[in-house]
Amino acid sequence: MTATMLTSEQIRSFDRDGFLVLPDFVSDEACGALRRRAVQLVDEFEPTARRTVFTTNEQTRSSNEEFLSSGPKVWCFFEEAAFGDDGELTRETSLSVNKIGHAMHDLDPEFEQFSYTRELAEVAADLGQPDALALQSMYIFKQPYIGGEVNCHQDATFLCTEPASVIGFWFAIEDATLDNGCLWAIPGGHRTTLRRLMKRHVEGDDTAGTYFEMLDDTPLPEVGDDRLVPLPVTAGTLIVLHGLLPHCSRTNTSPVSRHAYSLHTIPAGVGYPAWNWLQRGEDMPLRPLAAVADALAAHEAANA
Ligand code: FE2
Repeated sequence: MTATMLTSEQIRSFDRDGFLVLPDFVSDEACGALRRRAVQLVDEFEPTARRTVFTTNEQTRSSNEEFLSSGPKVWCFFEEAAFGDDGELTRETSLSVNKIGHAMHDLDPEFEQFSYTRELAEVAADLGQPDALALQSMYIFKQPYIGGEVNCHQDATFLCTEPASVIGFWFAIEDATLDNGCLWAIPGGHRTTLRRLMKRHVEGDDTAGTYFEMLDDTPLPEVGDDRLVPLPVTAGTLIVLHGLLPHCSRTNTSPVSRHAYSLHTIPAGVGYPAWNWLQRGEDMPLRPLAAVADALAAHEAANA
């Protein structure tokens, strides 16, 4: 296969490190448009459904029915720290949300346009997914002062295929710094085992939650481990993450938000177990990056 977007050095670097930093991958205009649309989605979010709190705390997550049903939706998840003792938001809504997930790339035209691009399809192809399917999108706000820590994890724990194949494309929509919670990872950390799988209960009540199946109890590094290196980047940078790479981010203690958008892809034809938390109905099949990017470009050209 001939590489199209990446140099052979960049491909080697990804294979060696498990991540690849591509500065200026998207324009300021594209970042600005996605940011405006994300804030608008939060503003428009159904007020009666504003209580879904996203947390890395496993128990809360596993019991959260709204999380489990959000795979084919556009849903807003709130910060734990955003609510007062009375259960009311203590700050304005747009500063209280943790993330939006998990199908904006297929349900919202602005996110679709950002996600399905020829450039991204070619990066995916260069890294072994010429037939990449867009599985999951997340817009992460990492709010000033309350944006929480994300423990070291492997994305393949949450998006499992047989064999493991998920790639994460993490776009800095705003500058990500040491102060506002940039990503951290261990170079080469992906050359390891998958530690655990998050599984959905598939028998009986499928809203019953999730549980973790331990595959290898070797602990992942913790935030603060001196093998972790920070990945501060400017807005518009794309960081590509191997599905087995342990990565994390610290609490945002700064007055500045750290918006990011992540899109996860898997190759066509791999096994996708029914116990993955993220399930779509047959009416909403996963779509290929390259073909949809081409169709969007053709549509735009026809309307130009
Ligand atoms: Fe992740």
